[in-house]
Amino acid sequence: METFQSLLAKKLSNALAAAGLPDAGELTPATDPRFGDYQTNAALVLGKQRGENPRELAEKIVGHLNVGDLCEQPAVAGPGFINLTLRPGAIAEKTAGILGDERLGVAETESPRRIVIDFGSPNVAKPMHVGHIRSTVLGDALARIATFLGHEVIRDNHIGDWGTQFGMVIYGWKNLLDQRALQQNPLAEIVRIYKETNALTTSDPQVREACRQELVKLQGGDKENIDIWNECVAFSMQDFEHVYELLDIHYDIQCGESFYNDRLPSVVERLLKSGIAEMSEGAVVVFFRDIPELADKPCIIRKRDGGFNYATTDIATVDYRLDDLKADSVWYVVGAPQTLHFKQIFEIARRQGYQADLRHITFGSILGEDRKLMKTRSGENVPLRELLEEACRRARKIIEEKNPDLSEAEKIDVAQKIGIGAVKYADLSQYRMTDYVFLWDKMLSLQGNTAPYLQNAYVRIRSIFRKAGESPVATSLGGVREETGRRPVATSLILTNPAEINLAKRLCQFAEVVPQVLNDFRPNILANYLFEVANSFHTFYEACPVLKSEQPARSSRLALCDLTGRVLHRGLDLLGIKVPEKM
Ligand code: ARG
Repeated sequence: METFQSLLAKKLSNALAAAGLPDAGELTPATDPRFGDYQTNAALVLGKQRGENPRELAEKIVGHLNVGDLCEQPAVAGPGFINLTLRPGAIAEKTAGILGDERLGVAETESPRRIVIDFGSPNVAKPMHVGHIRSTVLGDALARIATFLGHEVIRDNHIGDWGTQFGMVIYGWKNLLDQRALQQNPLAEIVRIYKETNALTTSDPQVREACRQELVKLQGGDKENIDIWNECVAFSMQDFEHVYELLDIHYDIQCGESFYNDRLPSVVERLLKSGIAEMSEGAVVVFFRDIPELADKPCIIRKRDGGFNYATTDIATVDYRLDDLKADSVWYVVGAPQTLHFKQIFEIARRQGYQADLRHITFGSILGEDRKLMKTRSGENVPLRELLEEACRRARKIIEEKNPDLSEAEKIDVAQKIGIGAVKYADLSQYRMTDYVFLWDKMLSLQGNTAPYLQNAYVRIRSIFRKAGESPVATSLGGVREETGRRPVATSLILTNPAEINLAKRLCQFAEVVPQVLNDFRPNILANYLFEVANSFHTFYEACPVLKSEQPARSSRLALCDLTGRVLHRGLDLLGIKVPEKM
């Protein structure tokens, strides 16, 4: 099913051809609804290119523009914009089509790719903290959307389970471990010994040396150290899994850094042989002399002591993803401080002849109320698990007030959907590059651009159908029958009230908005769209009686309610947010 935007873009192309003009400009949603629904700047672009009067060009294009089936007479405005306003009949017809479509009008991509998404990727021996929300939630949403659009997605958790920190963890394990504490809260105890050892190394060179020895032994395959390492990894993974369970986030593969260990020597050999890397002061280094911004930033891939590092691992990771997993694209959802690192890695991949599309998707920080990086009162990182549990507790309070009659099981379920949804939505509704302040009251509010507001809109729609005593499928227009996925034939909708025309128009835009998210990896476009859907629904519901109206308006309006609910449900699902049936 084609969107209005793509239909109109084709018509514009045809008109340009008929007018003897080349393709130019864009056809976009109107910036201001007073000027219509879509607009094109084609005449402006052509005017500039050809030194002709843009208004005259616009009139000429309009003369060839065959949009009568979809739009009112096109209008030329301002310096030469062409504005298009959809006809209610065309909106009704398209809405009815979407109503009978399980995908709600969203087309699958014509060029499906295999995409590895590297997101979350926490480090072992450290608890997941609030700083991991963004990568985890953003990566998951992008994975869901790419999958829905027909790409083949491989979700990979590149866990930091190897590296210098293990010298300290093992030293701490051997010298500082409190077995009782380990039984009670393993990860907290591992974090404690790691931190204390770390502090010791700064004051005591002997401890520093001892840690280095432990690391060398680990890397050399020493049995005792490998066992300790394995145990620490397992304890950390338990903590991660608990968080992933709460968030309902899942991975296809979890190839952590250690997975690439035995590939590192050959990676370095290969890069040396091909001349991409060279020896420099005993280390193996890649220089980027021809790239101004990297010219003084060489990348060490084997240290003088023979050790490999984070960069070496990432080079091996590229090989694995492109050669073994056969990915066309790799998306790295990792914070901005690693920008330089990924520039180097991508350049090394390019020099090796790889042509895949490698993207570093960065994001801003989460701030506390003091607008500084969010920390606990004692200045620690806020553990993610505690934060998510707190979200559920706070959501529970809201439910107790709003709907005390729910059963205990329902309350637990709804509190989790609202609490976790609120945290995710607060993140995803922001442009990823913007820092945002983490405010409980704001994100849990039932008013404003929040998950609970959208969930509540969905719940209201469900209650309309409960009151109507009919499931959405029972309306004459039908929706997709949830139990069977059957698509009933949709007859026409009747749109007369401006509020219902507006709502229907919005619902038709879902298919335009979803693919747009991937252009610049911006789930906030979808979040904000859903907010507008909920607002349009609210206005519609105030202006148009549904259950009390006469047929055929009643069926038509029920169908709009149904479609709104499905768009909210599907849209939130693409963001990884669940909807309750009651709240
Ligand atoms: N574990 C790393 C960190 O916490 C992130 C890993 C990102 N992915 C990668 N392939 N380097 O900083």
